[in-house]
Amino acid sequence: MKKSSNTIWHEATVTRARREQLNGHRSAVLWFTGLSGVGKSTLAHAVEENLYLLGCRTFVLDGDNIRHGLCADLGFSLDDRTENIRRIAEAAKLMVESGVIALTAFISPFRQDRERARSLFPHGDFIEIFCDAPLEVCEQRDVKGLYRRARAGEVKEFTGISSPYEPPLNPELRIDTGNLPLEKCVEQVLALLQERGIVTGK
Ligand code: ADX
Repeated sequence: MKKSSNTIWHEATVTRARREQLNGHRSAVLWFTGLSGVGKSTLAHAVEENLYLLGCRTFVLDGDNIRHGLCADLGFSLDDRTENIRRIAEAAKLMVESGVIALTAFISPFRQDRERARSLFPHGDFIEIFCDAPLEVCEQRDVKGLYRRARAGEVKEFTGISSPYEPPLNPELRIDTGNLPLEKCVEQVLALLQERGIVTGK
């Protein structure tokens, strides 16, 4: 990748640690991954709602929204997805530095891209949450009608149909979004955040 030259890193005096102290919670990235229509965005926003009510500073980076702006120039080829995830990971990294709990909801289909994203963060700050439901369930739901269009050949390189999805081998959390009601999924995420000392209290 092209690198900028003649640039010098400037250290902030208001550090991440000071921001976390002010906020009363640690920052981290909750990296939701899974097929289209598996419930990543729904779960990320529901977790965010709960964290907000606990007084936490949060922000959701959501696939469909980010592709309207920051990643509007990218499509769904393997290279474009890799670049999409690289940008999101860098954006999430800035958010974590700013003391925020960042929640990302992208298919992020490739293990290598997710591992590269993980490598940007200090150990323990990257929490990979695999939203796991069979392709048949996502296709049955077909909230956006894209599976039907992909089967008809109208949408090319569609994840699960004509482009691969590599499930995480060792995620921090695997959630059965195909069977569990949303509240149960949220509970699992919040329990993990409390267990890891990212948020405290009820
Ligand atoms: S990723 O693969 O690069 O991580 P991302 O999460 O940003 O994908 O975008 C996925 C969303 O884009 C899907 O939920 C769907 O609404 C839409 N989409 C449009 N075309 C495709 C495609 N070919 N494959 C997957 N998703 C697509």
